[in-house]
Amino acid sequence: MDKESVLEVGAPRPRRLRSGPLLRRMVRETQLRREDLILPLFVCPGTGVRREIPSMPGNYQLSIDQLVEESRQVADLGIPAIILFGIPPRKDAVGSSGYDPQGIIPQALRALKEARLELLLIADVCLCEYTDHGHCGVLHGEEVANDPTVELLGREALVYAQAGADIIAPSDMMDGRVGHIRLVLDTQGLTHIPIMAYAAKFASGFYGPFRQAAESTPQFGDRRGYQMDPANAREALREIELDLREGADLIMVKPALAYLDIIRAARERFPAPIAAYNVSGEYSMVKAAAQLGWIDEVRIRDEILLAIKRAGADLILTYFAKEVARVLP
Ligand code: PBG
Repeated sequence: MDKESVLEVGAPRPRRLRSGPLLRRMVRETQLRREDLILPLFVCPGTGVRREIPSMPGNYQLSIDQLVEESRQVADLGIPAIILFGIPPRKDAVGSSGYDPQGIIPQALRALKEARLELLLIADVCLCEYTDHGHCGVLHGEEVANDPTVELLGREALVYAQAGADIIAPSDMMDGRVGHIRLVLDTQGLTHIPIMAYAAKFASGFYGPFRQAAESTPQFGDRRGYQMDPANAREALREIELDLREGADLIMVKPALAYLDIIRAARERFPAPIAAYNVSGEYSMVKAAAQLGWIDEVRIRDEILLAIKRAGADLILTYFAKEVARVLP
């Protein structure tokens, strides 16, 4: 013992457990697993289409044939699930291509089922990709009308479940939609299909690149009349509580990075599995800064995903899923 030491004998020294890589691995509290990952994919009309999304390098609008190939790779990487977003050939005021049994997502689901991949198919249920005005429901004047929208979301969910979706994920933020979708599924004999509810979805600037990818930018106004105010944490817990009461099996917090406190609060309060959506803007910022040489992309990517898990998420929807799965042990 160095007599000159300014610390007392027996003083706590937490650094002892950081002294080497093996010890650090042994005491690591949080780990990312392949099973935690869900990859979002965008499906578009045509064949042989694989169009890179400019603001989301490494992500593509895929025609169904390409989607099947991509999904095969995803399954081979050990990623358990994908979530599908559709870009329809036509849009109208009521988003009818969203609940058309011959629409882009039902066709994609049937093709994927036929491919018999070891992969769960999650269908995002919303109308914003299918309406010509880009809002998440039908309009009365300039407002999204809640109850008529919920009725259409019920139809959309049913069509997707019947086409082969393994999990239904409503992302619209209308009141009462989880309960209605559960009722529709149950009365049609689809009691076994889980609902993953975008329960606390905030009106966020982080969705910008996604709207370019899904061609779903609102033509006027914004989504603050249905998505949540970023200032509200207690309200997020109330939204989650309601969705669980209505029958949600999994709940989601979205976005993830700027809302880690919501994930943590939900983790402490609710026993249900929690998914967090590491959204497009969170991805694009990392990619852009990395392209400029300003950050260490891999290090920051891993740090972000780990932080989302540490906050309490069980599952992470992320555009990084493939690259991360490639390097996970
Ligand atoms: C559709 C939907 C959005 C996202 C997922 N589902 C966009 C929005 O609400 O405008 C965003 C995902 C992302 O940014 O990665 N309602």
